[in-house]
Amino acid sequence: MNTMNIHDKTIALVTGANKGLGFEISRQLAQKGIEVLLAARDANKGAEAAEKLQSEGLDVQFIKLDVTDSTSITAAEQEIRDRFGKLDILVNNAGVLLDWGVQPSELDISTLRQTFEVNFFGAFNVIKTLLPLIKLSQAGRIVNVSSTLGSLGDTLNPNSPYFGFRGMAYQSSKTALNALTVQFAKELADTPIKINSACPGWVQTDMGTTDALLTVEQGADTPVWLSTLPADGPTGGFFNSRKPLAW
Ligand SMILES: NC(=O)c1ccc[n+]([C@@H]2O[C@H](COP(=O)([O-])OP(=O)(O)OC[C@H]3O[C@@H](n4cnc5c(N)ncnc54)[C@H](OP(=O)(O)O)[C@@H]3O)[C@@H](O)[C@H]2O)c1
Repeated sequence: MNTMNIHDKTIALVTGANKGLGFEISRQLAQKGIEVLLAARDANKGAEAAEKLQSEGLDVQFIKLDVTDSTSITAAEQEIRDRFGKLDILVNNAGVLLDWGVQPSELDISTLRQTFEVNFFGAFNVIKTLLPLIKLSQAGRIVNVSSTLGSLGDTLNPNSPYFGFRGMAYQSSKTALNALTVQFAKELADTPIKINSACPGWVQTDMGTTDALLTVEQGADTPVWLSTLPADGPTGGFFNSRKPLAW
């Protein structure tokens, strides 16, 4: 911690940040001088990831947070309240893809529920619990890391590169996450808080596989851009490559 008044510093929390896109989003936010709380459900993996970014000279600290565990979210809220008194940026990045290639009629309902627990209910619970702290920020920003696979427009469009993908649990959880973005944006319309959905593109991570087209550096760009929007930036939108996407 530097000698600056910690309350004056911009504080960001990124969920699912021990690897993949969350790790890179944390790095890029910290490179902008933001103090980043790198959240992970596994303490060892999270602490190791935070140490790696610290070794690059970045202001990053691990915080334990399992998005499916209300107790863990409440504990993180209390820790942030005690240490910083506010939260400026929340990136809901934690996500699972459990039904790649599975047709809806073959999908097990437990897989559907498990997917929604992380990708939708988890994001909702994190936003709801941390919102009072975000309201204490001068310029709160919430980014839901969604996917073009959750776009109903793309799913129905035979000319979309995403048309042939099968994975109803993942896709519908991201469609629902987009609905959450819109609903919170309406509630928060008269506040400085902006909330948007981001598709990072198809990115080389454990989820995206090595076949993916984009590096994590490229994939993190839109979520980081939305995390640091100016006061006249958009809210309630869905973006890829910094451009609006069809819902
Ligand atoms: N890669 C792509 O092409 C792509 C495209 C569009 C959207 N996305 C979205 O981008 C986000 C990040 O994906 P990624 O590609 O970086 O995937 P990833 O490498 O598989 O990383 C997923 C992260 O989410 C964490 N996570 C899972 N369940 C969690 C829980 N209950 N609580 C807290 N953290 C949890 C994982 O933690 P553990 O290590 O402990 O499992 C991991 O840190 C996801 O929301 C994904 O849907 C990815």
